[in-house]
Order: sequence, then structure tokens, then C-alpha cells
Amino acid sequence: MRLNKCHNVDDFRRFARRRLPSPVFHYIDGGADDEATLRRNTSAYEGCDLVPNVLAGVEEIDMSTTVLGQKIDMPLFLSPTALQRLFHWQGERAVGRAAEKFGTYFGISSLATVGIEEIGETISSPKMFQLYIHKDKGLNRAMVEACKAAQFDALTLTVDTIVGGNRERCLNTGFTSPPRITPRSFLSYAAKPAWGLNYLLREKFELPNLSGHIGEGSNVALSIGDYFTTMLDQSLDWDTAEQICAEWGGEFCLKGIMSVEDAKRAADIGATAIMISNHGGRQLDGSRAPFDQLAEIVDAVGDRLDVICDGGIRRGSHILKALSIGAKACSGGRLYLYALAAAGQAGVERALGNLRAEIERDMKLMGVTSVDQLSRDNLRWR
Ligand code: LAC
Repeated sequence: MRLNKCHNVDDFRRFARRRLPSPVFHYIDGGADDEATLRRNTSAYEGCDLVPNVLAGVEEIDMSTTVLGQKIDMPLFLSPTALQRLFHWQGERAVGRAAEKFGTYFGISSLATVGIEEIGETISSPKMFQLYIHKDKGLNRAMVEACKAAQFDALTLTVDTIVGGNRERCLNTGFTSPPRITPRSFLSYAAKPAWGLNYLLREKFELPNLSGHIGEGSNVALSIGDYFTTMLDQSLDWDTAEQICAEWGGEFCLKGIMSVEDAKRAADIGATAIMISNHGGRQLDGSRAPFDQLAEIVDAVGDRLDVICDGGIRRGSHILKALSIGAKACSGGRLYLYALAAAGQAGVERALGNLRAEIERDMKLMGVTSVDQLSRDNLRWR
């Protein structure tokens, strides 16, 4: 397979599947339980249609938007995701540099494979840090302090992982962080020697933001589901979220808000943004799709904070639909992770280039020259 044959997210997905040992591929690709939410996250966009206007003079278009305090050049950004050096040896460094080229936000996870400090020093693009609240309070404090020192632009508190989702693909493959090669999984790793050589010969795998405090994830192998269930603080509540928001004192986002009630509480505690998200269908299967919840949340809080639609996006037209409803921006994980796995930084750049071209083409076909011209008037529900 060749990079210049990858025209859409699904092409990159197939490419990634060829490159990755199957436990790693299925870790990215899979969702919880029956994966109904995973599928619905994308199919939800088909429940409504775009209604274009024509003869609008669309030679020059501007797709920039302002979200989480930063003007970004395109209305799509790269959600924080974990363990990226397992998908390609360039990991977060590649994703950050691609985001920089496209002038958009990107995020690293608490479970990133590159440290907060290094990302702060090397990537100039707007950056968010995805905070998981651990039982180890010193670790939580250290991560927030490191983000301040590294001048991250936003702190994103994940609120939908209070326990691990039931990821049956990972149960079947035995996927853990760090990866453990068992007699059962040996063949799937042996089948991808190029991946194996990179894993063994390049920089040792670890989760540097955690490893000074806890061994799990870097030295002690655990499935991500078990990691969430055993390492994260299940007493996390609104008071703690408010305290973290106040301590941080900057752009603060809650990732994983799905209800209107919670969206209002997010605004009440001082959050400046929410990501409507169900963690890519990896946590609560049967949860509603972000796109299905978007309108009622925008109506309730769209004038108080930035509403971001995270999940299921595979096409520029999906982004235009979400913006028409009132999202400030969209974000996604798998849409760039498959590309990272396929070809590192070049892959992520091509994936972003494809989506940017789709947004531009679709804006022109819709007869709009800036994203604020999109509105619910140009949508019809089936
Ligand atoms: C996941 C986490 C780590 O596997 O974001 O869903």
C-alpha cells in the first residue's frame, strides 16, 4: 500500500492494519461491548443533510476558527490520545509537528510516550494536555505543574474514564501497556517484524509523565481498561474539577461531557470549553453519539463556553454539519492515529491535508466563505 493512495480515513485504517501487530491495531480500532456507540458516532452524521446555496463567489475561503483561546487555521484538531510511540516510533513528536504545519491544536495524554517538557520546548502549535486524575495526588499535581512550566495552552480533564470500558478485542488479544508478548500473541507480533525492530531498537517504551511516580503502564504491564479501573480516582467529582480548573487558571476543557445538565455545570465551574465525547465508543457502549447531542448542548451553553464535537468524524462534510449546528470546532483521534501508524509524520500530514481539502471543497460547494456563515438553516434532518 502507498501513502499517495490513501484518500480517506478508511484507506489509512487498512494501511495501519497491515503495519501493526494485531493487538496494537485492535487497541486503536476497537470500542466497548458490542461497539454500537463506536459505529453510531460516525453514522450519526448521516441523519442530517447539508442544503447548499450556490452562486456565492467562493474563490477565497477562510476556514479558521477560535477555540480554547487560540485561533486555529482549520476547524479540526487532534484530540489527545495515549501510547503513540507504539503505533509508530515517531509518536507524539510526529503528531505535534503535523499539527504545527496545519496550524491547529493537538493534545498529548497523561499516558503519552513523550514528556510534557519536551513537547513544550519543541512544538509551537497550540497544545492541550489531557489530564487523568489518578489516586496518586502527587502525580496529578506534578502533571499540572509541568504543563504550567511548559506553557501548555489548555488543560483538558477527562471525565468519562472513571472505570475502564469493556474492550473485548483487548481481552481477546491480551493487549497491555507496555506490550507483553505472550505465547498466544507471539505470532501476531512476529508477523510484523518492521514494527518489532522499531519497538526493540529505538528509544525504550515508557510513559514519562507517569513513570517517575508509578510503574504501571511503563514497567508493569496492564490493559488500559484495568489501568483506568485500578489507577484512576473514582471519587473524582465536580468539586475536584472546580479546584483543578481554579488551580490551572487558564483555558480549561472537560472532555467526555454528554448531557445538557453536565454541560451547564461545566460552565458554572468556570470551564472554557467542553468536548462532547464518549471516548470514541471505548467506554460506555450504548452512549449517545456526540453529534446527536450537539444541538441541545449548544442551545444550553453555546454562549458560555466553546462546544467541541469529538468523535466519529471521517469526512469534511461531517465537520461542516457539526459547525452548522454550532460547534466551535471538531476533533478526533482515530482519524489521525491510523495515519500515524501507516506512515508517521508524513501519514498524519496527508490525513490532515485530505481533510483540509475536503473542508475547503465542501465549503465552496455549500456556498460559504467562512465557517460562521454555516448555520442550522443549511441543514435538514431526515
Ligand atoms: C483509551 C485511552 C487511553 O485507550 O484514551 O481509550
